[in-house]
Amino acid sequence: MIMQRKSLVKLYFSLVLLSALSAIGQSKLDVKKEFEFAAKQYEGMLAAHQDITKFPQSTNPDGSPRDMKSEWWCSGFFGGSLWYIYQFNHDPKWKAAAEKWTMAVEKEKFNTRTHDLGFMLYCPFGNGYRLTKNPDYKEVMLVGAKSLATRFNSKVGLIKSWESFKGGYKYPVIIDNMMNLEFLFWAAKESGNKDFYNLSVTHADNTMKNHYRPDYSSYHVLCYGDNGEVLARKTHQGAADESAWSRGQAWGLYGYTVMYRETKDAKYLDHARNIANFYLNNPTLPADKIPYWDFSKPGEERDASAGAIAASALLELSTYGGKDAKKYYNSAVKMLETLSTPAFKAELGKNNHFILMHSTGHKPGNSEVDVPLVYADYYYLEGLLRYEALKNKQKLF
Ligand code: GLY
Repeated sequence: MIMQRKSLVKLYFSLVLLSALSAIGQSKLDVKKEFEFAAKQYEGMLAAHQDITKFPQSTNPDGSPRDMKSEWWCSGFFGGSLWYIYQFNHDPKWKAAAEKWTMAVEKEKFNTRTHDLGFMLYCPFGNGYRLTKNPDYKEVMLVGAKSLATRFNSKVGLIKSWESFKGGYKYPVIIDNMMNLEFLFWAAKESGNKDFYNLSVTHADNTMKNHYRPDYSSYHVLCYGDNGEVLARKTHQGAADESAWSRGQAWGLYGYTVMYRETKDAKYLDHARNIANFYLNNPTLPADKIPYWDFSKPGEERDASAGAIAASALLELSTYGGKDAKKYYNSAVKMLETLSTPAFKAELGKNNHFILMHSTGHKPGNSEVDVPLVYADYYYLEGLLRYEALKNKQKLF
């Protein structure tokens, strides 16, 4: 009886403390602890991946590690995450590991068959260059940016995502493609070639015009004709053509936040805020703020990757002020807090050495459903670093 009363008193004071903390805007996030965990978990990942042609991606249905080749759109995320760990702990051991897994992607600089070179090259080489100024990394990226730009057709006014799409379409563009523009803005600045800048702006303008619905949710796949006319609006990884695939919403949010950063054109800021409001005000978004894999599928699998991407984007968006800035910041913190709980964060040595559980890659294709995904970890670490930077009143990187 006495014990019970003691426990109740303890519980009462914990609740009072928690509500006091949230009232003054403090978070339970412990970035140092999370990076220590990430480093330990990824030590296991490095030990399990001696062959640098096999990039950590996810978990197979039988529980075994799912590795991919450098041609796969995700090959840059592991190196990128290793740079984030190095950024936090400055330990040369992590620099060496990041260098190794960055250079493992180098040959993709010549790849003109993918629109994903931003993910593949800018995440590892871009972060590596930012942290080390290694001129070799710059060279790789400038070659890669030229390869990516070959996929822009000025008559259509967009970078082509895939070679074709079911139904005989020959110029599909996916919302994910907004994420590759940051790389081209970097290339424009470093090379002085304005074309990279201009084509990114054209791509973003056409995407804003055609990919978005009046409620600021986006389609996944737009199929264009030879002169830039819209032939069809479809989905590939979402639940339906007319639904809002969660990761697609997060890619768009991140992409238009970057558009504002790089151009300072207020129309992109408005657009990013409208996307954020669609996302955060959506009645199917759970209280813990990590979405189901599609906004039309409450109760089904979550997508931690969408949550991590959105958290990182919202932290940047919050720095641009406006009446909802605080809401964006608090929501992002909540997302990172949720991802840092045992509901989403794996136990040490489990989860094939990935940090986060419960992402969904391609549910309609029955592929990568409720699994770890390498890019969920990447954007989670990025979000934590951004949170720490803002807390310390530092400029975002
Ligand atoms: N860019 C592919 C995806 O988000 O699954």
